[in-house]
Amino acid sequence: MLIGANWKMHKTVHESVDFFRALAADILLDLDVEVFICVPFTALWALSQASAAAGGWPIALGAQNVFWEDEGPYTGEVSPVMLRDSGCKYAIVGHSERRQKFSETAAHTAKKVAALLRNRVRPVLCIGETWEEKAKGITEQVLVRQLEPVFPMLRTEDLPECVFAYEPVWAIGTGRRASACQAAEAHRFIRLLLHDRFGVEAGERAKILYGGSVTEKNLSELLEIDELDGVFVGGASLEVQSFSTIIRRCAQRGTEGS
Ligand code: PGA
Repeated sequence: MLIGANWKMHKTVHESVDFFRALAADILLDLDVEVFICVPFTALWALSQASAAAGGWPIALGAQNVFWEDEGPYTGEVSPVMLRDSGCKYAIVGHSERRQKFSETAAHTAKKVAALLRNRVRPVLCIGETWEEKAKGITEQVLVRQLEPVFPMLRTEDLPECVFAYEPVWAIGTGRRASACQAAEAHRFIRLLLHDRFGVEAGERAKILYGGSVTEKNLSELLEIDELDGVFVGGASLEVQSFSTIIRRCAQRGTEGS
C-alpha cells in the first residue's frame, strides 16, 4: 500500500519538522507500507536535513507542484531539479485546486509529468470529475480527457514510477467521500486505460490511489476495494494521530491480503 498526504497550504517549517518527528516515532514498527507527505516548498530542505540527522525517517518527501523547465527566467516557479535537490521523491501534478484556481490545463500537467520523470521524481497525477460531470454521467470521458495528453510523455518503463490519484473534485475537502463502488469503478477504468496503452504488465505496475475526504473513520469500506493501491489524504493528514491511524489500518490490510 502507498499512502500519500497532501498538506496543501498548511504548516510552518517548525510545525512540519515536529510533525515528521512525531509521526516517525509513531510508525517505527516495521510497517509494510510506503508513506509520503507533500509539504509546502518552504519545509522541504529542513525536513530532508532533520530526517538525515535522525538517521532517516520512514516518510518520503513530496512537493505539491512543480514547473516543467529545469531552470530559467520563470519568476516564482520551482523546478524539478530543485525538488530533487531538496530530497523530494514525489510531486503532485494537476490537483483540482491547481486546475480550478490556477488555470492548470491537461497540457501543463503533461509537461510537468515529463519534467518530473526526467529528474527521477515520482509524479502523483490527480484526476477526477466535478459534481456536474458526475451528474451528466461523463466521469469516464473526463478521466480520458485528463489522461490522454499525459500518456505520450510516458515510456513503458516509467509506469512503476507513476502514481495516479483518483480524486473526484466533489469529494475533496467536502466530507463526501465517493462510495466504494464508485471508487472501484473509476479505478478499474483507469487501470484499463493503462493496460490498453502500455500493456497489462506495465499497466499493472503503476499505483492508483483514491483521494477525497478519506478519514480514519471512513477507511474500512475503501480498503475492501481490490483495485485500490492506497489512499491520498488531505485534511486527515494534518494531525499525527489521525494520519498514523490511517497508515496502520492500511498496513493491516496489506498483511491480511498476503
Ligand atoms: P481531503 O483532500 O482529504 O481533505 O478531501 C484530498 C486532496 O485534496 O488531495
